[in-house]
Amino acid sequence: MTTSPDIAAAHGGALVHRIASPEQRQAFLEAADTMPRVTLDERAVSDLVMIAIGGFSPLEGFLGQADYDTVVTDMRLANGVPWAIPVTLSVDSAIAAPLQAGMPIRLDDSAGRFVGVLELTEKYTYDKRKEAINVYRTDEEKHPGVKVVYDQGDTNLAGPVWLLERDPHPLFPKYQIDPAVSRVMFAERGWKTVVGFQTRNPIHRAHEYIQKCALEIVDGLFLHPLVGATKQDDIPADVRMRCYEIMMEHYFPQNRVILAINPSAMRYAGPREAIFHALVRKNYGCTHFIVGRDHAGVGDYYGTYDAQHIFEEFGPDELGITPLKFEHAFYCTRTSTMATTKTSPSSPEERVHLSGTKVREMLRRGELPPPEFSRPEVAAELARAMRVAQEV
Ligand code: ADX
Repeated sequence: MTTSPDIAAAHGGALVHRIASPEQRQAFLEAADTMPRVTLDERAVSDLVMIAIGGFSPLEGFLGQADYDTVVTDMRLANGVPWAIPVTLSVDSAIAAPLQAGMPIRLDDSAGRFVGVLELTEKYTYDKRKEAINVYRTDEEKHPGVKVVYDQGDTNLAGPVWLLERDPHPLFPKYQIDPAVSRVMFAERGWKTVVGFQTRNPIHRAHEYIQKCALEIVDGLFLHPLVGATKQDDIPADVRMRCYEIMMEHYFPQNRVILAINPSAMRYAGPREAIFHALVRKNYGCTHFIVGRDHAGVGDYYGTYDAQHIFEEFGPDELGITPLKFEHAFYCTRTSTMATTKTSPSSPEERVHLSGTKVREMLRRGELPPPEFSRPEVAAELARAMRVAQEV
């Protein structure tokens, strides 16, 4: 099986593969007790996985200082290739102190499980406030992405990594479709154009509308919900995935849609993260990427369409994936259809739209979001999940 030549090349040229071979794994296991150890938090583990499976191509490891500096200031790696989010392994200086460039470092997850190896090339300190302002456009600690930066260690450990083993996802093994596999799946289906969809929220009808509008002009839809770390009040990934399964069963054509998990952590970096999300989907083989209203935003930090405007900061062929930009979608009671202000003459009172917060409040009171907002089967699943959460 080969990948269709029409499917975009991985970002930077080649799909990165940093999963240890059986022989390498054996050698790492034998050396396990002699290597210095660093413990990764949930986000760093997911970054390790994304690097290893090629989702973050061309990164082969955690960013070194030259790349880090240009990513923060210019949204590019030091060689000029676009990259919008610093992917760093940030540790306390006391942990970094005994580590020397050239050392292989054993990477453990928070349960103490040996998950990977870092070939340490350098360590460097960095300016957290500068990272916050450049990447998140704010230095406020109450921004959830900025808070992670402020809370993490002040020394970055850099270098290529190896993932010890690619384990099946404990909750969603069926949907663990890594970039090398999604590319083959697209080719097998004969898809030459595929649109990727990022989400961290339960699917509602505005999502479905923009997904299907996009699908009208491409061959396939790659539904790619993020299941890595999210902030506390986001709906858990297992509930969101059940909603997607319901949608796949009742509302999507099976032969045109693939549902897969994106193992990454959310950054909530709005515009910068939209670029990052698009490049990740390019690595999975997508040619197009949906960017709707306030993509990857949180609170009022970003303008509604900032995540669309940022794509204009790159030359036409630099990103290698085409953003499909959608205005704020809603149910229009005047025309009895999903729409945006581009396609409906409605007045504001004729538009049914609910914020995530509003939906959560309704569910907490035992009310179902209306069918104009959410498919009834999805609303029922959200209500069931809320009841279970309230009982615990
Ligand atoms: S995100 O943080 O992953 O962007 P969410 O899951 O809410 O959050 O959004 C997924 C995608 O759908 C994003 O591209 C977002 O801009 C888009 N989107 C969400 N709601 C709407 C809406 N009502 N109208 C248009 N686009 C939307």
